[in-house]
Amino acid sequence: MVKDWVRWHEDYEAPGSSLSRRLAVVREQLGGALAEGPKSLLSICAGDGRDVLPMLASEPGGRSVRALLAELDAELADRARAAAAGLDLPLVEVRTADAGATATYADVEPVDVLLACGVFGNVAEADMSRTVAALPALTNPGAIVIWTRGRGDEGADPSVEVRARFRAEGFTELAFVAPDDARFRVGVCRRSGGDPVRLPAVPRLFSFG
Ligand SMILES: C[S@@+](CC[C@H](N)C(=O)[O-])C[C@H]1O[C@@H](n2cnc3c(N)ncnc32)[C@H](O)[C@@H]1O
Repeated sequence: MVKDWVRWHEDYEAPGSSLSRRLAVVREQLGGALAEGPKSLLSICAGDGRDVLPMLASEPGGRSVRALLAELDAELADRARAAAAGLDLPLVEVRTADAGATATYADVEPVDVLLACGVFGNVAEADMSRTVAALPALTNPGAIVIWTRGRGDEGADPSVEVRARFRAEGFTELAFVAPDDARFRVGVCRRSGGDPVRLPAVPRLFSFG
């Protein structure tokens, strides 16, 4: 069954919900990234853009960041577009597009900040690995990547594999937020120096399960 992602976003409205707490962490980490003065940002599976857009509007230099939000759901993409317009952010493009398809990035220049929030928990581990391996092609050397992953109720914490994958692909972890009383994890990594990298010659990086 296809998940109702519009409905999923409603949990953001509940104060103290895990999702609203996660949002606060993502925004705080994004604030740190914006303080470095990035010129460009990409959010994959961006939802309605509530993590990125208010920060671009409020943080110093945020309004001069060229941002691309890629979101498959037309209603959520419309909401993000309306939010960007309402915040007067003309450098934001919201693309109703499949962020799992490499073709979507054909005209996308590498960015200084990339968000992959709410992605890795919805795809197979092999897709997570393939996506993390592709991030050096989508980012500039020194770029910051902010990602999220949830843990299960008991035992397993798949964020361990995500962190290991980032390390293996040459990223340095800047922060990892994992509150004891919440299931979400937020990771922040920096791409180490390096030459430009090409996207892998595969049609897809990931598909939501
Ligand atoms: C868990 S939500 C996360 C939304 C947002 N990043 C956030 O953290 O609030 C996952 C989002 O991915 C979108 N999505 C699912 N498959 C996608 C794809 N192939 N390309 C782009 N977006 C996709 C869904 O519509 C949904 O908005």
